[in-house]
Amino acid sequence: MTSIPHGGKLVERVASENEKKDILSKGYKEIEVNYERAQEAVNIAKGVFSPLKGFMEKREVLSVLDNMRLTNGLAWTIPIVLDIGEEEKEYIGSDEGIILTNNGKKVAFLEIKDIYKWDKEEFAEKVYRTKDEAHPGVSRTYNMKDYFIAGNILLLDGIEERFPEYFLSPKETRVLFDAKEWKKVVGFQTRNVPHLGHEYVQKTALTFVDGLFINPVIGKKKKGDFRDEVILKAYRALMDNYYPGNRVAMSILPMEMRYAGPREAIHHAIIRKNFGCTHFIVGRDHAGVGNYYGPYEAQEIFKYFPDLGIEPMFFRSFFYCKKCGSISNEKTCPHGENFHINFSGTKIRALLHKGEKPSEQLMRPEVAEAILSFDNPFVE
Ligand code: ADX
Repeated sequence: MTSIPHGGKLVERVASENEKKDILSKGYKEIEVNYERAQEAVNIAKGVFSPLKGFMEKREVLSVLDNMRLTNGLAWTIPIVLDIGEEEKEYIGSDEGIILTNNGKKVAFLEIKDIYKWDKEEFAEKVYRTKDEAHPGVSRTYNMKDYFIAGNILLLDGIEERFPEYFLSPKETRVLFDAKEWKKVVGFQTRNVPHLGHEYVQKTALTFVDGLFINPVIGKKKKGDFRDEVILKAYRALMDNYYPGNRVAMSILPMEMRYAGPREAIHHAIIRKNFGCTHFIVGRDHAGVGNYYGPYEAQEIFKYFPDLGIEPMFFRSFFYCKKCGSISNEKTCPHGENFHINFSGTKIRALLHKGEKPSEQLMRPEVAEAILSFDNPFVE
């Protein structure tokens, strides 16, 4: 039995052929949205953000910002919103619906409930706990347009999907987990290629459950992060060589990283609950960036959500201990820091940048080879 979706029921907002014909016959205006917003509409329609049926209204956004809950009390930490500019607002006028387009596709129909002005600084301060534009989530926020348009959506043609062979909807992952007879499934969020710290976190968690669901975020990331195809190839190499095939599954989460640390950890957990996971891994500095959040704040925030409906599994930071001769963490290793080699993303990236393989204590050679098979593995 997979977990119950957030809010009780998986949302599905995909127009039938008749609904589609009906909508298209009404001559609604169209507005072009960027790929990331179009992707959010698809995620809503496929139930990734259940129980949301559309882009949030003002009172929902304020409730999420202030209380980390929807107005009905359900946990929710990151507003799901669609921004439009002054010109688009005027163009829409008092219309009751609009078609969202992207790159020649009629992505979705939006049944307009409200169009309202929002406060970027308040949004940044509450979601990211900083107004510093050096924070990628804050600069993303400041670059958004001045109004939010709210309302339920109905998927029409969707988008040009990236890596469709790697995507499963929450409905599909639930079928998969059931077919594998996994009762307890732990979800793993990642935006990175796997080092041995990641592998150890996953395998330790897997020891206690039936299945591991690796769910990398694919989509817009900050400069210097790994490119999507590199992450996928690196995971394939790891899974083919070091993971028991019957206990591990991978599919992608097409979504933009926000780097909102603690709030994003809850968001990530809710999404994995919708995919059917019963457990969710939160390690060191989950969804963090720079020094904006403490290394374990993304774990501490879970104490405010005893009703989340997915069990977090917390891990202290893993490192390689030369004296133990194995991967350890501060709970399991008695030796001093001078014996420890940390899984520093910066260090690993610097080596790969020079075309060098990190040591086998840090990264599996097959994974390093997969990464180095790309001319440039990094987002520019
Ligand atoms: S994240 O932005 O998606 O969180 P990353 O892909 O590096 O970044 O991490 C995925 C998960 O692994 C997160 O839960 C993170 O806390 C955890 N993690 C990464 N490195 C370590 C480590 N050395 N020890 C423990 N947990 C880790």
